[in-house]
Amino acid sequence: MQTIHSIKELQACLSEAKNAGKSVGLVPTMGALHEGHASLVRRSVKENDVTVVSIFLNPTQFNDPKDLERYPRTLASDCKLLEQCGAQIAFAPSVSEMYPEPDTRSFSYPPTDSVMEGARRPGHFNGVCQIVSKLFMITEPDRAYFGEKDFQQICVIRRMVADLGFKMDIVPCPVIREASGLAMSSRNGLLTPDEKVLAANIYRVMKESLSLGLSVRETEAWVTDTLNAIEGLEVEYYSIVNGETLAEVNSWDDAPHIVGCITVYCGHTPIRLIDHIRYK
Ligand code: PAF
Repeated sequence: MQTIHSIKELQACLSEAKNAGKSVGLVPTMGALHEGHASLVRRSVKENDVTVVSIFLNPTQFNDPKDLERYPRTLASDCKLLEQCGAQIAFAPSVSEMYPEPDTRSFSYPPTDSVMEGARRPGHFNGVCQIVSKLFMITEPDRAYFGEKDFQQICVIRRMVADLGFKMDIVPCPVIREASGLAMSSRNGLLTPDEKVLAANIYRVMKESLSLGLSVRETEAWVTDTLNAIEGLEVEYYSIVNGETLAEVNSWDDAPHIVGCITVYCGHTPIRLIDHIRYK
């Protein structure tokens, strides 16, 4: 596997591959890779001749500087994992390589980017669209792989791809969970073992809510109250929404695809965890 830091070098490498008729898969990441990322990379390796994994901790999507500061940075072990998964290229640019000038572009795809995370993290999805569109323009992949763990992010990126006319396929990949049910996330590395046990309640409670037979609003309230009753957990929101547009639903008949999206603060620091579950 090659580790490349410059856009020019990456593009030279990729045009050679594309001229030889090879397909390219892109897996955008911010590093601190875990089994969830590995599943995306393995899938891309299976479906493409060349897999590029970008490792770039994108400052423009962090609205909280403390969150950016404490985000785990593990480039050496990330590259080891990518090599084991069979990726051909790790693209790890510097901030000045990606943003020689401040990125002043703005993106707006409501309601996908204005509800839930969009409402609580101003500018977050704008930063995601800035970096993802740049990566798409630089690599021009045939396919790009994203984890469904960040369910809202995929909905926003789909809107951006349709808006800007990018030609690649967006491939959503299922959430990978620990045996406890906790969704794998780079942030889990910031949890103590006890907090990890606590955090496993998030998926357990959402799963239990699937079979309660309550209305949409009652289900939201039940999940929120049940989790808030556990010491060390604090629900920021639990929203049951249309799984395509992310618009609020009022009844289970309002859309063919309905998901519940949650954000919970866990433990002392506290660490902000997100997850979701599909109702239909
Ligand atoms: O999901 C992430 O890790 C990031 O938001 C992404 C897509 C790599 C953009 O920085």
